[in-house]
Amino acid sequence: MINTIIVSNRLPIQLSIEDNRLEANPSVGGLATGLKSVHQRGNSLWIGWPGIANDDIPKQSQKKVDNIIKNENCYPVYLNREELELFYDGFSNKTIWPLFHYFTQYATFEKKYWDAYTAVNEKYAKAIIKNIASGDQLWIHDYQLLLVPQMVKEQRPDVQIGFFLHIPFPSFEVFRILPWRNEVLEGMLGSDLIGFHTYNYERHFLSSVRRLLGFDINFNQINLKNRIVLADTFPMGIDYNRFHQAASAQQKKTIKDKLNIQQELNKHLSLNPDLKFVLSIDRLDYTKGIATRLNVFEYFLDKYPEYQEKVTLIMLTVPSRSDVEEYQLMKSEVDELVGRINGKYSTINWTPVWYFYRSLPFENLVDLYATCQVALLTPIRDGMNLVAKEYIASRIDKKGVLIISEMAGVAQEMSEALIINPNNYEEIADALNYALGMPEDEQIERNSIMQDRLKRYNVEKWSEDFLRALVKVKELKNKYNSKKITPAFSDKFLNVYKKSKKRILFLDYDGTLVGFKKKPEDAYPDNELYSMLDLLARDRKNSLVLVSGRDKETFNNWFGNRDYYLIAEHGVWMKNPKEEWQLIELMQTEWMESIKPIIEYYIDRTPGTFMEEKKYSLVWHYRKADPELGTLRANELRDELSSFIANHNLEILEGKKVIEVKNSGFNKGRAAVRLIQQDSYDFILGIGDDWTDEYLFEELPKEALTIRVGLHNTFAKYNFESFTDVRDFLKNLSKTKTD
Ligand code: UDP
Ligand code: G6P
Repeated sequence: MINTIIVSNRLPIQLSIEDNRLEANPSVGGLATGLKSVHQRGNSLWIGWPGIANDDIPKQSQKKVDNIIKNENCYPVYLNREELELFYDGFSNKTIWPLFHYFTQYATFEKKYWDAYTAVNEKYAKAIIKNIASGDQLWIHDYQLLLVPQMVKEQRPDVQIGFFLHIPFPSFEVFRILPWRNEVLEGMLGSDLIGFHTYNYERHFLSSVRRLLGFDINFNQINLKNRIVLADTFPMGIDYNRFHQAASAQQKKTIKDKLNIQQELNKHLSLNPDLKFVLSIDRLDYTKGIATRLNVFEYFLDKYPEYQEKVTLIMLTVPSRSDVEEYQLMKSEVDELVGRINGKYSTINWTPVWYFYRSLPFENLVDLYATCQVALLTPIRDGMNLVAKEYIASRIDKKGVLIISEMAGVAQEMSEALIINPNNYEEIADALNYALGMPEDEQIERNSIMQDRLKRYNVEKWSEDFLRALVKVKELKNKYNSKKITPAFSDKFLNVYKKSKKRILFLDYDGTLVGFKKKPEDAYPDNELYSMLDLLARDRKNSLVLVSGRDKETFNNWFGNRDYYLIAEHGVWMKNPKEEWQLIELMQTEWMESIKPIIEYYIDRTPGTFMEEKKYSLVWHYRKADPELGTLRANELRDELSSFIANHNLEILEGKKVIEVKNSGFNKGRAAVRLIQQDSYDFILGIGDDWTDEYLFEELPKEALTIRVGLHNTFAKYNFESFTDVRDFLKNLSKTKTD
């Protein structure tokens, strides 16, 4: 049975010393509550910090602490006060947390925080390496541990690493502010699979990877040099049955068996039967919009005075990160606001806001969920917001109204809720008014749909989906790896090469024999390349063919006086050694005048792009453009050209950051076949790097050795990682003495 190792900053248990006694309580927050159900299934070890500074654990309690942790199938990473100040309060909660939630004004950038973050991430990586066995799946969580995947991958490349980010990934314009942005991305890319709550977070992440690290990305697949990383969206669910069943059990209890809090609520209801409760539950965090919510509630009582003495806001705020200044300031702000509102409106029989500053046990939470007619959740930014899901799951009679901020990840899944902009007082006050008067049929209709969805896509399904996807990445990796040329393979080829009598070698140029440059004219051949190709061409058993999309003039300048066969412009022109160029495909060119203005229009609107005019084709290059805009415009251009080309016997070739329009019916493969037919060869080699080379791989005879550079889906039989591997391989061939 595969074991899963869960790693998060915080363990699901929170240890503390109260009156000299050691206490263990469940941890609060979406990550801990959500993953707890996954952990309880067994077969997992949870690595993390137990919630107390190790300097605060009395020596005589250490054994007890160790045992509590062990009994929960957990493994501790102990952190001291200084580490907590710099890594937890510092880089995690004063740098990443505000930045990723778009609170750039709160984000601080301090080298000492970053150093501590790196060191503590190393500590987690060490704990993982110590505990992981071969075949285990590793699942690392959240923003406190962004560097851990890379640290583990470097030491244990065999381990499958999943990473899940529980908070938003911000847009590139915000992420780029971080001084250590590249290191953070590289850290995350140590994973094989990276999960996000919403597609927007995923898309922002991919865009940052593309812009900052320049990796090639196909849909959600990031092609690193020697590995593939997948990014995907998995909206986290909750343990639906646990909440639903607890709410149902609570309903069945007699009045005297009910919990205190419920009895209190009932007491108020008996005095004031029309009273309605609006619930809000969050950690006391500036991202949750708690102060704004109070201001809006005050505004609501002014705008709709008929609700005075009829509605009470029950506000549970859970203490959180209280050593960070912004959190302390917020606490005073919220205290003051509650005081002011209650002072302004309270009557003998009615308090507008009941404010609790503490965390409540699960049963109490469920009571609140089950009793309040409306849940008002208005975060300014929130990765997901599980409270919203828990509220809906606890509505046994399907009545109740959820008002949720569009800035919470959960809003993307729960479109049947009342969705509001958390900065729009008017909209929220009106939504609250609407919610309090919503007909019961409508409430039931909306909640039934949401409950069905939450029941289906619960936390179990979420984790199964993620872990299954992690296995799939492994299969994908195996598929690519099986094509990778190993040294043993390479020796075998050399032998076949040595024994063969007549050989033809088709080599693409850009990306295959040389690396890419920003300007195509800078990717000229170097002396080492010339000598290697000359050596290959000099062997009388070899026909060396350079086959490229490059224009004939450039190719002629670089290779015209060499003893190579040259195929230029994807097979329009061909040149045998010591002969003149021949036009091997008869071409129309009138269409060019109509296409040019279209491409020019795209050049004007996309800085950094330019047109290359070949004799029989037109090429739009966007390698130097902003990567996102370039891709967007490439899609638009392709779209715009598609109607024209169908009527003119043309086709579009999409290479690496180029769109080329040319007459259809000729390609590198067709040109290659023309040469092969002129003689009989017992060794055929084809190497290329982009999809225009796929024609070559497809057309060459079955026995040919075909190799694609880079990790892609391909017709080629084998893969090389980069052009340097091609060079090493060819160097070996060129040095092979043949009889
Ligand atoms: N929660 C809790 N005790 C409390 C209040 C809340 O355990 O007194 C839990 C709640 O059930 C929910 C989590 O804390 O699962 C909060 O998760 P959410 O995604 O809403 O916000 P986060 O704290 O992760 O930002
Ligand atoms: C959010 C974060 C979690 C974190 C939780 C509680 O849910 O995504 O990683 O554990 O808040 O915050 P804390 O700082 O107390 O761990």
